[in-house]
Amino acid sequence: MKEALQAILTKAQEQLRAAGDLKALDEIRVAVLGKKGELTGILKSMGKLSPEERPVIGQLANEVRSQIEALLEERIAEVKEEELSRRLQAEQLDVTLPGQRRPLGKKHPLTQVLDEVKEIFLGMGFSVVQGPEVELDYYNFEALNLPKDHPARDTQDTFYITDRVLLRTQTSGVQVRVMEKQKPPIRAISPGRVYRSDAVDATHSPLFHQIEGLVVDKGVTMADLKGTLEIFVKHLYGNDTVVRFRPHHFPFTEPSAEMDAQCFACHGEGCRLCKGEGWIEILGCGMVHPKVLRGCGIDPEEYSGFAFGIGLERIVMRNFNIDDLRLFYENDLRFLSQF
Ligand code: DAH
Repeated sequence: MKEALQAILTKAQEQLRAAGDLKALDEIRVAVLGKKGELTGILKSMGKLSPEERPVIGQLANEVRSQIEALLEERIAEVKEEELSRRLQAEQLDVTLPGQRRPLGKKHPLTQVLDEVKEIFLGMGFSVVQGPEVELDYYNFEALNLPKDHPARDTQDTFYITDRVLLRTQTSGVQVRVMEKQKPPIRAISPGRVYRSDAVDATHSPLFHQIEGLVVDKGVTMADLKGTLEIFVKHLYGNDTVVRFRPHHFPFTEPSAEMDAQCFACHGEGCRLCKGEGWIEILGCGMVHPKVLRGCGIDPEEYSGFAFGIGLERIVMRNFNIDDLRLFYENDLRFLSQF
């Protein structure tokens, strides 16, 4: 029996040392120490031994068991260690590989310039207000001195939702909304989308953007209008920008004007950018009509004001030398990523 135990020990040791993974080690454990294992078999048959032999063989069997158990534990630890280092090797990270770049988005050119314009007016103490794009005829036309049969309405045909509700053709209606709510002094700009039922081409779109401006206070004059707008353009295009005011007509301002900036490409000579004119139209403006003030509950004897409306697309096109308005709305990354 001694020999048998010795043989079990030697065989188990060899097998344990040769086993390469946890599964193989466990199979050996079951085969030797399990319920039906070789060593267990020997212990079960101890009954057949003589009383003198029994303690000797019993002790030897226990030693064999604890030696096998100790080796088993050792091998389990070693195999685990080996498996870990194998995995670490296999899953090694190359920290020197270049990372995956996420393409960074950026602001649309219209938003970039709008932000710049807002910054300039905020710096002059204006606040930024919003008005509705679906607007009442009253605010878009009537309250701006454009009654139902006014011929100037023809140039601003739009999308009517009902007889009284339409998509606004201009941001000027926000002037009225602001004056109804707020008493002077007022200094506000209101950027936003406007709509006209124009056919799409390189310079027309049924949707475009305007920035409205309004100043109302005691003693506001045309000089304030000119000074404010000149400062705005100089911030936008540089200190050496030359501007001119041309008389014009808008029903809601009197007098009215259009402001041009001298072409910054040719300095008035006339070139492709300014279409040979030497000047670039920037905005419409004027002194708020007394009728409009009165309609909003502001006494024109006490207060006066000026207003202006900037076409955003036009100045962005000139800024970036873009010759087709449609590019702004097509969301083609080949276009947008250039700005
Ligand atoms: N709303 C005008 C347009 O769409 C632009 C404009 C002109 C706005 C004069 C004004 C203004 O506030 O005073 O053509």
